[in-house]
Amino acid sequence: MTVIVRDFRPSDAEAWTRVRRAVVPYLVTTPEQVVHDLAHAHPDRHYRLLVAERDGEIVGTAQAGIAHDSPEPGQGFCTPHVLPGHTGHGAGSLLLSTAEEHLAQAGATVVHAWVLDTPENLEFARARDYRPGRSAHFQHLDLAGGTLPPLQQAPAGVELRPGSDFDDDPRPLFEADAQVTLDEPSDIPTELDDYEDWLTNVWRHPAFDSGLTTVALVDGRVAAFSAAGTDGERTYSSNMTGTLRAFRGRGLAKLAKNDSLHRARAAGYTDAYTSNDTGNGPMLAINKWFGYTVRATEVRHARTLG
Ligand SMILES: CC(C)(COP(=O)(O)OP(=O)(O)OC[C@H]1O[C@@H](n2cnc3c(N)ncnc32)[C@H](O)[C@@H]1OP(=O)(O)O)[C@@H](O)C(=O)NCCC(=O)NCCS
Repeated sequence: MTVIVRDFRPSDAEAWTRVRRAVVPYLVTTPEQVVHDLAHAHPDRHYRLLVAERDGEIVGTAQAGIAHDSPEPGQGFCTPHVLPGHTGHGAGSLLLSTAEEHLAQAGATVVHAWVLDTPENLEFARARDYRPGRSAHFQHLDLAGGTLPPLQQAPAGVELRPGSDFDDDPRPLFEADAQVTLDEPSDIPTELDDYEDWLTNVWRHPAFDSGLTTVALVDGRVAAFSAAGTDGERTYSSNMTGTLRAFRGRGLAKLAKNDSLHRARAAGYTDAYTSNDTGNGPMLAINKWFGYTVRATEVRHARTLG
């Protein structure tokens, strides 16, 4: 049996999606999204998608690039995924070494990789000189069978709006996203300062749903938001929930996310997912309040190159 690794082609999008959904069902993955991500990646991202074929069948995927929106230069990332039943045949190693070579040429000094918290995956990373860093919980909420907290009345001075009300001018949401992203705990700090790139890769991203996104305005200005992603069928994901610093601790994140979840359920979505750093006390407390339960944990690992 032969394993090869090659660059992704748009005709691989369905197979790519099958692998990703099987290995990480907690993320929204669609064929449109993977094609969009590759076609519209910022040049400084050096974004490359790899697939592993075993006897002609796509059994593994990896996306590799440089976190160009980090203030720290040289932060590469790559996460290989191999279908259950096809591990142990070298696909993961070949995906990783091909990605590392590409990233080194693109200027990476370190490569970050998400590793699912299972003995086999942790050993795979350890054996390849990756050291563990922060961790994150994938959480799930059953929208079809479970119960949501009742819809809350917005307090005086607070108004809830769908994100689609900003379709003509989403800049206030870009500015809000930039501020809250700075405060999200992560191994790779992120500074959003490129509005055009954000429009292309966040606002116009095929998996983003501005209609199901909820924005909380205080005296007419953006104070909090809960950004919705969907696969267009049954899976809903929280892309970011954030409250501007001046408005934290007033229940606005809960209010915005609750509104978005109720509307997602009404639109027929059955499963809501989110992922949070295990050190993000406030967001984990909010998600527990909604009834989310932890499905899996992943640990960010890093290897210094050279
Ligand atoms: C996380 C965040 C969205 C919370 O916004 P917020 O408007 O202050 O949230 P709310 O007021 O609705 O709820 C906060 C809850 O967290 C609890 N909380 C606050 N700090 C906490 C901590 N360190 N540990 C545990 N719980 C904490 C509060 O008590 C409150 O729960 P309660 O209503 O039961 O008392 C905001 O801090 C933020 O924007 N952070 C940066 C971006 C981010 O990390 N987003 C999440 C990643 S997707």
